Amino acid sequence: MEIVVSGIRPTGNLHLGNYFGAVKGFLQMQNEYNCFFFIADWHSLTTHPHPDNIRNSVKTILAEYLACGVDPEKATIYLQSDVREIPELYLYLNMNAGIGELMRTTSFKDKARQQLHIDRVNTTEGDVEKEIFNENNKHSVSAGLLTYPTLMAADIIIHKAVKVPVGKDQEQNMEMARRFARRFNSTYGVECFPEPASFYYSSKAIKVPGLDGSGKMGKSEGNAIYLIDDEKTIKKKVMKAVTDAGPTQPNSVKPEPIANLFTMMEIVSTKDTFDFFNEKYNNCEIRYGDLKKQLAEDINKFCAPIRERILDIRSDEDYLAKVARIGAEKASESAAKTLREVREIIGFRG
Ligand code: TRP
Repeated sequence: MEIVVSGIRPTGNLHLGNYFGAVKGFLQMQNEYNCFFFIADWHSLTTHPHPDNIRNSVKTILAEYLACGVDPEKATIYLQSDVREIPELYLYLNMNAGIGELMRTTSFKDKARQQLHIDRVNTTEGDVEKEIFNENNKHSVSAGLLTYPTLMAADIIIHKAVKVPVGKDQEQNMEMARRFARRFNSTYGVECFPEPASFYYSSKAIKVPGLDGSGKMGKSEGNAIYLIDDEKTIKKKVMKAVTDAGPTQPNSVKPEPIANLFTMMEIVSTKDTFDFFNEKYNNCEIRYGDLKKQLAEDINKFCAPIRERILDIRSDEDYLAKVARIGAEKASESAAKTLREVREIIGFRG
């Protein structure tokens, strides 16, 4: 079975966009591949979280994935920080990673800008570089941020994964992972690591729109409906959705805010419900208040059982600990096997 690895940054709760864009793909993949899904808690250190914050967000994200149906009997679900072989491989990969290539990655430059408090608009890339070396800037950029792509490469190739489900924003990190895998092979004249490919699962991933007029649903967009949101919260968010004065011509093309409401309805409502409101729209008889009420109800119908499972699982510390322990054992076994081979290749005791 082909090996799949994917890392999840423990940043906040899952929303509908995450569910339909990513989690649903995981549910499918766990039946078809040998999947390793992990919480990237080492990566989260680039933003220096408080220890309590780490403990909490890791448990929350674990509970939410489990509540969605990611199954510890099918996939290996673990915390990155439980697999100590990863940082050893990271060290080896860093010995052959160039600081130049790492500094040129877009996400590094973006995040370095933030860490140095450099204005995004009025500065060039050269300014970022100059500030990194400026001893008088009281802010600095961590080596951990620079080597984020090396750690990500280690996460992936430690299990010799060939498929990595990631968002489009991870393309450059994936390119680096392939490069570091190839470089290890060519440095030592071995075929140790296969090249991991990004895997979009595009036919199944659905882009969930935001309900605030345009664009997609996202945490940073501030327009997310979370799986944990209760009925009242969902209703409030949906009733606030942007609409317009309504169509004046039959069968008008829907402007984006309205199209987004219908797209959402297509995702969570029945076909009958969708067709009913679509017809009303086409007849210019649509009442957006009714549509939103129905949509809020259907979103709640979708979220309610997941929400209940999240609350149950999140409060069952023993279960969460057990899942993490079993995952850690399986992931460590796979990682240790690769690392023994790597150590021998490099010239250490295996
Ligand atoms: N960088 C990924 C993100 O920001 C998270 C991640 C870390 C990851 N390690 C990984 C994803 C390994 C896939 C494989 O979303």
